[in-house]
Amino acid sequence: MRTVTKNNITDVFTGYFGKDTDPRLKEVLTCLARHLHDFARETNLTHDEWRKGLEFLEWAGNITGPERNEFVLLSDVMGLSSLVDMIHSVPDATSSSVLGPFHVSNPPPLEIGADMKRHYEGDVLLVTGHVFDTNDMPIKGAKLDIWQTAPNGLYSSQDDEQDIHSFHALMTTDENGYYAFTTVKPVSYTVPGDGPVGQILNAAGRHPWRPSHLHFIASAEGCRSVVTEVFPDDDPYLDQDTVFGVREDLVMSYVKQEAGSFPDGFELSGKVPGEYLRVDFDFRLVSES
Ligand code: BEZ
Ligand code: FE
Repeated sequence: MRTVTKNNITDVFTGYFGKDTDPRLKEVLTCLARHLHDFARETNLTHDEWRKGLEFLEWAGNITGPERNEFVLLSDVMGLSSLVDMIHSVPDATSSSVLGPFHVSNPPPLEIGADMKRHYEGDVLLVTGHVFDTNDMPIKGAKLDIWQTAPNGLYSSQDDEQDIHSFHALMTTDENGYYAFTTVKPVSYTVPGDGPVGQILNAAGRHPWRPSHLHFIASAEGCRSVVTEVFPDDDPYLDQDTVFGVREDLVMSYVKQEAGSFPDGFELSGKVPGEYLRVDFDFRLVSES
């Protein structure tokens, strides 16, 4: 086709593929072009707006590096990361939720019952639960990669005062699939706002807050790993998470426990004089295949 028009450009685009193009790549690119072309037609996109969009992507590229990925953040605040999660969710398994940019590799091992908060002060939170398969059988030796903010709302990679492994841990379940640790209650925090994504949130009149949460990657041999988060049911941002990560099965009560009731068998046993909070959360992993 020689004459390209605003109405046939998507078909012309599709006709340019080589005959050996991977079929899935062709399907994804064709669909992407169709939506991009429709988007430009529907919004009557101006040159100025198109250029601003490209400058936005250039800025995102310039501040993206090993420690920060503005494109992931863009995907998060646009709801794309969560939509992909939900499209591929498995009904019987624990829901997945955004990974975020603050996971670190090789977290330090933490024994069952140990204290993840080290010297940090805050509301003591006891976290316990099990890892099960989808037949409710406990999974021994499942790995839980755990991370959260410090009480100042910052992850270790954002905060010079913390060493990189602070509030990061790797726990292995026992023969009952059991895990347990103590920490401080995480706090709500804002996603990084000093880049182009922050500018978009501002321009759209959107706040940058996420409800407080504990991050987990639960994995076990023969099972599909799940990247997820656990949220307290009283967080003010639960219904307006700026990255759309909240799922019904991930919202839990952090239940206040009486002073003096702290159980034995924990690193903090005998050292928690007052009230503390407790959350029980079970993971369900689906077998691979
Ligand atoms: C997080 O939960 O750590 C996070 C997720 C998405 C964007 C920014 C932070
Ligand atoms: Fe987070």
